[in-house]
Parts: sequence; C-alpha cells; structure tokens
Amino acid sequence: MSTVFLNFFFRKADFMIYTVTLNPSLDYIVHTDCLALGALNRTHDERLYPGGKGINVSLMLARLGLPTCALGFAAGLTGQMFSELLAETGIASDFIALDCGMTRINVKIKSAAESELNAAGPEVSAKALRALEQKLGGLCTGDTLVLSGSVPQGVPCDIYARLAHRAAQAGAFAVVDAAGQALADALTEHPFLIKPNLDELRGLTGCTPHSLDHLVESVRGLQQQGAQNVLVSLAGEGAVLVPCEGKALTIPAPHGRVRNSVGAGDCMVAGFLSGLYQTREFPTALQAAVAAGSASAFSDWLPTEEEVCAQLVRTILPATLHA
Ligand SMILES: Nc1ncnc2c1ncn2[C@@H]1O[C@H](COP(=O)(O)OP(=O)(O)OP(=O)(O)O)[C@@H](O)[C@H]1O
Ligand SMILES: [Mg+2]
Repeated sequence: MSTVFLNFFFRKADFMIYTVTLNPSLDYIVHTDCLALGALNRTHDERLYPGGKGINVSLMLARLGLPTCALGFAAGLTGQMFSELLAETGIASDFIALDCGMTRINVKIKSAAESELNAAGPEVSAKALRALEQKLGGLCTGDTLVLSGSVPQGVPCDIYARLAHRAAQAGAFAVVDAAGQALADALTEHPFLIKPNLDELRGLTGCTPHSLDHLVESVRGLQQQGAQNVLVSLAGEGAVLVPCEGKALTIPAPHGRVRNSVGAGDCMVAGFLSGLYQTREFPTALQAAVAAGSASAFSDWLPTEEEVCAQLVRTILPATLHA
C-alpha cells in the first residue's frame, strides 16, 4: 500500500492511539572511543532525544502515518526541554507538568560496548495521577491506549490496571507492554494486547518454555488470568502471537546487522497496531510487528517508514502452531 494512500486513509481515520509514558527522559547519547572507569573520558558525538517507551511507540506510529498523541508527566527545566524536543518531532502530546523534581536525563554511552546510566526520575503525586486519569476521559470507542514501560517510584503498581480500566469503560483497546506486578495487575482488566518478551513472560508465568508449543501453553495461562491477545517477542528469533480465539501464529525475524536493539519492542507494538488498523488481520499485523521491530534493531535509532517497508518485504507469512 503506498504512503500516499495510507496518509489519505489515516487522515480520514476517526481513531487516536494514545501512549502513556509515566517517566520519560532526555536521552543523551554519546560516543567515545574507549571508556575507562575512574578516568576522564571524552566524547566525539553527542545527541539528545526525547526518550521513553511510550514516546518511541508514538514516534514509530507517526512515522507509519498513524494518528497518535503522547501523554505522561514532565517536570522542571529538563521537562521543558523534553517537551520542546518532543514538539520538534511533530507528534501531538499532552504532558502534565509536575510541581516538583525534574525529568530525568538518561546517559547512553556507545563505545566498544554499550553502557547506560538511567536515572530514577521525579516523584509523581497522587494529584498528577488523577489529572492523567481525567485526561483519559477523552478516550473514545475504537481508540487505543498504549501503556508501556516500568512504573516509577511513588506510583502504585496497579496504575496500568486503573488506566486499562478507563480504556475498557470508553470502549478503547488497552495495550500493555510492561513487566512484573504492573503487568500482572493489568491482566484483570482484560487488556486487548500484552507484549512480553521472553524474560517478561518468564517473570509472569515462572516457567521457561522449552518449545514454542510449551510457550503457547504458558501464554494460555495468562489468558485465563484475563489477557486477550498476547504477542511474545523473541528478539532475533521473531515472535509468537497467541490470539484469544484461534490458533497461535509464529514468524521468524529477518536477518541483519544489529545496530541497536533497545526500543525494538516499542517499534514492534507500533508496527502491530499499524498492521491491525490497516487490515484487521492478525497475520499481517504480526508481519508488520516483526518488520518494525527488526528495522529498529537494524538502525541506530528509530527506523524510518522506508526502513520498515524494506524489512516487511523480507518477512514471510506467519505459520500456524498446533498448540
Ligand atoms: N537481533 C535481532 N535480529 C532481528 N530482529 C530483531 C533482533 N532483536 C529484536 N528484533 C526484532 O524486534 C522484535 C522485538 O524484540 P525484543 O524481543 O528484543 O523486544 P523487547 O525485549 O521488548 O525490546 P525493548 O523492550 O528493548 O524495546 C523482535 O520480535 C524482532 O522482530
Ligand atoms: Mg520490551
């Protein structure tokens, strides 16, 4: 489908995909030839991006031509800078300003190996959380609410459950890409989609799958706890989609040189939604998910639409699993 047609299709679209980033960041990415602990190191390339898992999902969605709006919290001077950088990307956003603290700066050091220094971020007050819940009063039937990333300090870990509840009340689809208790709690609200990677699946089920059929079996347990559709990402091995109805599907990832696998899962969520909104078919959504995830892994930062399309033509039709 051509971009021109897609843009026309989505301009007419009457849905919105909201993303929530509770603890966004300014991502400061520096390159250095070598990194020595306890010594002065000099960088030779520095970049600053608005960061956070929901932000990545919104940016990828926008690149794929879907309507999106990023929500969350920002604080202090760094929060202002974050909002300015986000505005420069052209995506719509509606961040709540916190009264205290500052949006965190996460430092990513690219050298022979990659090192990251992620800050804790500001405390989110109960008042700010209520303001976010109020904003979700604007959700409509057919919208999607993407809840991704870890839950910051001070925020109750059932926050995603509460927000997913709001989505359900509005007739919107909730997508949860999180780990641990926040994800476990959200299951009771019957999210439309969850996207655990293998570690997150293990954390949730307590079992390490020894085969794809075994993996599907443990996912069925999560569905009994409330999850509807489950997309398990397997990094370089591709993905498995276990729909709430019908057989599970599996697809390998295209091969390529990995440049940056962080954020591949976020792009995968965006790719899945783009495929689903376009075709309403799970197999094509799964292909688009893997194409966007792999394109992200093969690019330095988030991939362009052309890079996703280049991987899409390299994906094969998903195979049906018997479990
Ligand atoms: N090494 C790789 N080669 C090819 N594709 C990859 C590779 N790593 C990731 N991908 C693609 O990205 C998708 C998501 O990857 P992964 O399972 O690593 O997500 P994740 O752990 O949630 O990532 P993150 O949370 O850092 O965004 C995979 O299903 C695959 O399509
Ligand atoms: Mg992930």
